Amino acid sequence: MQHLINGFPEGFLWGGATAANQFEGGYDEGGKGLSGADVLTGGTHTTSRRITPVLDQNEYYPNHEGIDFYHRYKEDIKLFAEMGFKVFRLSIAWARIFPNGDDKEPNEEGLKFYDDVFKELKKYDIEPLVTISHYEAPFSLTKNYNGWADRRLVDFFYRYCEVIFNRYKDVVKYWLTFNEINCLTTPFGTFMGGAIMPKGNGELNNIQFDDEQLRFQALHHQFIASAKAVKLGHEINKDFKIGCMVAYMCTYPLTCNPDDLLLAQEKDNMNNFLCSDVQVRGEYPGFAKRYFREHNINIIMEENDDKILKEGCVDFYTFSYYSSNCVSAEGNKDKSKGNVSTGLKNPYLKASAWDWQIDPKGLRWSLNNIYNRYRIPLMVVENGLGAVDTIEEDGSINDDYRIEYLREHIKQMKEAIIDGVDLIAYTTWGCIDLVSAGTGEMKKRYGFIYVDKDNEGKGTLNRLKKKSFYWYKKVIATNGEELD
Ligand code: BG6
Repeated sequence: MQHLINGFPEGFLWGGATAANQFEGGYDEGGKGLSGADVLTGGTHTTSRRITPVLDQNEYYPNHEGIDFYHRYKEDIKLFAEMGFKVFRLSIAWARIFPNGDDKEPNEEGLKFYDDVFKELKKYDIEPLVTISHYEAPFSLTKNYNGWADRRLVDFFYRYCEVIFNRYKDVVKYWLTFNEINCLTTPFGTFMGGAIMPKGNGELNNIQFDDEQLRFQALHHQFIASAKAVKLGHEINKDFKIGCMVAYMCTYPLTCNPDDLLLAQEKDNMNNFLCSDVQVRGEYPGFAKRYFREHNINIIMEENDDKILKEGCVDFYTFSYYSSNCVSAEGNKDKSKGNVSTGLKNPYLKASAWDWQIDPKGLRWSLNNIYNRYRIPLMVVENGLGAVDTIEEDGSINDDYRIEYLREHIKQMKEAIIDGVDLIAYTTWGCIDLVSAGTGEMKKRYGFIYVDKDNEGKGTLNRLKKKSFYWYKKVIATNGEELD
């Protein structure tokens, strides 16, 4: 019998997570093309971001400057190193490498930028964890192909992977193919994940005409692209570890009514497990086939697709976890908000200022639920509290609420490890303040490092260490033992 583990294993990868489009800036520098994120206006938690097919001078586009990591990466990586990061999750902006997505040759200046970033990480022994596509497909692919609705994107993505795998094969070991690939199981994922132009008013959080058939077809193309990338990556470097990334939505039945229980399972299956069943096991699960049949969804597949999926199973499973929701078979219940998908309020939980319910124990449950199904290493690659921070007169930022949130989640991760879950990494979301994906705000901050910039884009961009910066440093130094 294996002996009982008492806490975070030696070599546990502590760190933080970001995405190119939300923090790099330099949107038109170094030969970069326009990405989907570059045509998104700012919004708030009550007004949606909008997609503007052409840039409008009267609009504000928060991702254009991000937090200027493009020019300040040395300063930022130094701060991550000071906290003791073992791993740093970042994404490569596809449009920096292939400005239009379908270009014949890659953009050398873009490749060089990431050479420099990886070199800087290496200097501090920080392991990069690279997301290949994080809500930032070249916008030309949306305009000219309607994004992932078109199977030709599989080849463009393959070419992109071939270039970055070869270029960074000696400096990057951990890769994730698509960020929150399961967002395409919800209308929100249409543009963000699928790079598909939604019909209607262009509002990101209020897709007027949902096209489920198109979303699932696009998702199939991403499954094929991901599987081909995994196979290719292993051929280029057999030591590569390539994972999937899912927005895990922990779902409770609101009551013990058996109908609520079945609804919760259906949501867990369709929103969470459909994608990872395909990416981890290499085949569509029965519940998905049934759903497609009952909803008249007809996925066009090519003859070889089953084989491609089987040959491209991922090495590990990663997910984002922020909150949980309830479902009920009865209508008219209080709704809650959340990451990618929403649900109903849970009377036992408190919520963030953006109404995302806070549920650390749900993380322990989710870790067990996922691990029991797949038995492969897991990483929590996004977790954190989006909150408003205040700078005191003496320049300090006392973000005890953030410390509290993270502490309780770390405690539950430790419990899950003791339960037997093979959890190998934890990267908190937005370890340095960055632009919110959902709302475009700067005010919704997740970081240990404060960035002086507001919702209108004003500010010096100076970096300030919050109280949580020193706290997380201690957590890492003690491998998760000292959490107070
Ligand atoms: C995840 C995304 O959905 O949640 C990130 O992978 C995003 O890109 C994060 O930033 C938090 O969401 P938001 O809307 O608060 O930025």
